[in-house]
Amino acid sequence: MLTNLKPQPADKILALVQMYKDDPRETKIDLGVGVYKNAEGVTPVMRAVKAAERRILESQETKAYTSLAGDPAFSSAMRKLILADSVDAGRVAAVATPGGTGAVRQGLELMQYADRASTIWISNPTWPNHPSIIKYLGVPMREYRYFDSETRGVDFAGMMDDLKDVKSGDLVLLHGCCHNPTGANLTAEQWDAVVELLERTGAVPFVDIAYQGFGDGLEEDGYGTRLLASKLPEMIIAASCSKNFGVYRERTGLLMAIAPEEKSKASAQATLAFLNRQNYSFPPDHGARVVTTILDDAELRADWQAELEDVRAGMLKLRTQLADALRQRTNSDQFDFIADHRGMFSRLGATPEQVVEMREKFAIYMVGDSRMNIAGLNEATVPILADAIAATGV
Ligand code: LMR
Repeated sequence: MLTNLKPQPADKILALVQMYKDDPRETKIDLGVGVYKNAEGVTPVMRAVKAAERRILESQETKAYTSLAGDPAFSSAMRKLILADSVDAGRVAAVATPGGTGAVRQGLELMQYADRASTIWISNPTWPNHPSIIKYLGVPMREYRYFDSETRGVDFAGMMDDLKDVKSGDLVLLHGCCHNPTGANLTAEQWDAVVELLERTGAVPFVDIAYQGFGDGLEEDGYGTRLLASKLPEMIIAASCSKNFGVYRERTGLLMAIAPEEKSKASAQATLAFLNRQNYSFPPDHGARVVTTILDDAELRADWQAELEDVRAGMLKLRTQLADALRQRTNSDQFDFIADHRGMFSRLGATPEQVVEMREKFAIYMVGDSRMNIAGLNEATVPILADAIAATGV
């Protein structure tokens, strides 16, 4: 049996992690995988996470199973964080999942359960694991234009032009904030137009929100997701706690399905619990418990928000520094988009050859489509990157 297997292609982002590790050069700079790093290159355990873990260690009396949907307190705390009061809680079905990837996967499986014929529309480009999971499950998929490679902003006219072909019951995958891989995001007016299109066509938004708090702030980054939830009868939301709580390896995510009324909400809730049972039974609990402990405690929550805000401000500063350094070196404003982008990533717009050249000559690691993780920089490496970008003629 096993002799029938062929090697699968490596995930490009994760393959880059290994290449970076294997590079002996001391001057190497890692702008690859989407993991936050501080100025010392460390991915710290957040203060509030440490404190919550200490509390759990002291107070937890059992490791018996939770429920198939995970701890309801986690779903409730996360629903409030993401959706605030944009939608009646009685319409929201939710299950804990192993990370944001688990939520994406369960959301797609839910969609297949509801209607095998509907198509999911993904932005071009998007996080490469989106199309990978979609193809793996055999879900019909189409792309819509998203990124304008000239301006490095959103090609909104192209996006709306492509989405005019969506059918009622199709899903449209949208990044709630901090678009991965581009860093280019919808404005409030553009979100309004997307809502209008979805209302008119009867297509359903599938929002992947993995970076809330990394863009313009926790509340601001929830704007598009909350707007959609407040206006539309149905919606799927896949959320990750990996980045904004820094609990990457704990696999902490939530899938929410907003139904038009309570009866279909109950069916969605039962289906989500069933899907968890088929795939892994009970979702991981530790990270979810840490997140709930933080969100439900005023002091821990304030400290978490303060640290998250420092992380966000640090990335914005690096963006400005890099844009300024490139302004000086190129005598032009062509890289100002880096300061306008939000979140962990920016797509630089380099060719694949230039990406390889930066890696080979300057030991700078970015994803092949020239996605850079801004958090991989610090004050000392910004000028080195700016020099390399100028030298390769991006
Ligand atoms: C990324 O895009 O780099 C992160 O979401 C990590 C991953 O799993 O790909």
